Amino acid sequence: MKSDFAIELVDVVKRFGTVAAVDHVSMQIRPREFFALLGPSGCGKTTCLRMIAGFEQPSSGQLLLQGKPLGDIPAFKRNVNTVFQSYALFPHMTVAQNVAFGLEMKGVGRDEIRRRVADALDLVRLPQMADRYPKQMSGGQQQRVALARALVNKPEVLLLDEPLGALDYKLRKEMQIELKQMQQQLGITFIFVTHDQEEALTMSDRICVMSTGHALQVGTPLEIYERPNCKFVADFIGETNFLPGVVTEISGEYATVNVADMSLVGRLGEGVTLGASAWLSVRPEKMQLVDEARANPSALNTNSVTIDSVAYVGSDTRVVVHLGGQRLDVWDENNISTLDPNFYFRAGERASLSFPADNALVLVK
Ligand SMILES: Nc1ncnc2c1ncn2[C@@H]1O[C@H](COP(=O)(O)OP(=O)(O)OP(=O)(O)O)[C@@H](O)[C@H]1O
Ligand SMILES: [Mg+2]
Repeated sequence: MKSDFAIELVDVVKRFGTVAAVDHVSMQIRPREFFALLGPSGCGKTTCLRMIAGFEQPSSGQLLLQGKPLGDIPAFKRNVNTVFQSYALFPHMTVAQNVAFGLEMKGVGRDEIRRRVADALDLVRLPQMADRYPKQMSGGQQQRVALARALVNKPEVLLLDEPLGALDYKLRKEMQIELKQMQQQLGITFIFVTHDQEEALTMSDRICVMSTGHALQVGTPLEIYERPNCKFVADFIGETNFLPGVVTEISGEYATVNVADMSLVGRLGEGVTLGASAWLSVRPEKMQLVDEARANPSALNTNSVTIDSVAYVGSDTRVVVHLGGQRLDVWDENNISTLDPNFYFRAGERASLSFPADNALVLVK
């Protein structure tokens, strides 16, 4: 039976000695999906890729390629190619020779090789550089050669391990857009490893957030940012404030948390129970500060705060406030145009802070 998924990991464990580099990970990657593995250094991203590529065997669990156990498919039939962070080009070969190398090893005919190498170099926008050597090219160009070398094999799945890690910020941004366009044009499944959350959010259809060998959450960028399923994901993706308290009420989709004698309401997170210790997670841009005179103090999630510091950063104003003994970051969008230096609150002033219940999330783990 043909599977709906390009790749599946089913309860995969990979141990190196006593270390579980990958610890009971399951995920399903769809055909033609741009799928990111995102997490801090050492969380097991590369190990997952190496098992998918067949360079490592899982200690337990199963990997399926189009529904077939990976072990049953000979390496040369796997149609999976990898692009590494270090481009690993052969320095003594020209660009064209580097790209042709894999095809020559497979015994592909000369004419076909010439045609496919030209196509691959067109695709990565390096047609005029076929006769250069790697050392005569910039980092970004070398990375494109590495991409061409993988794409020339017409893989169904391309594994990319921090392919943009060595590039400077501007080039990295350009390559992000190009890679995404290339993936859409070719209809290849991309599994893309990064520890850069912004890169994962801007490029991916779905993201798997990993930490210490665990796959914590798989979801679209929107799901991961707006509905993180645990404290780690909420903290790792973007910025957030955590207010510790106790769950005093659960009502439908919402939970009330008692934080320093205030009752704050947020969306009910996974596994939240009455009486549990919990955190109310609320992102800095999802709260509003208004003059106390204009606020309704009895409205939901509305409390008096003291302004601790104010930093004007152009697009918004970054404020630190004190709420019941907690410091909170609040980012207030600058949607007015004024030259009045006193247009905003100043340190030491009081203000009213509020946020809708949908803008906060109650998490217990
Ligand atoms: N061949 C190996 N032998 C022993 N331990 C290993 C081996 N490969 C990886 N590990 C360990 O497994 C864990 C996961 O490593 P992995 O390379 O998958 O992390 P990563 O998420 O890719 O990190 P990074 O972002 O730094 O590349 C680490 O603790 C690492 O030290
Ligand atoms: Mg790695």
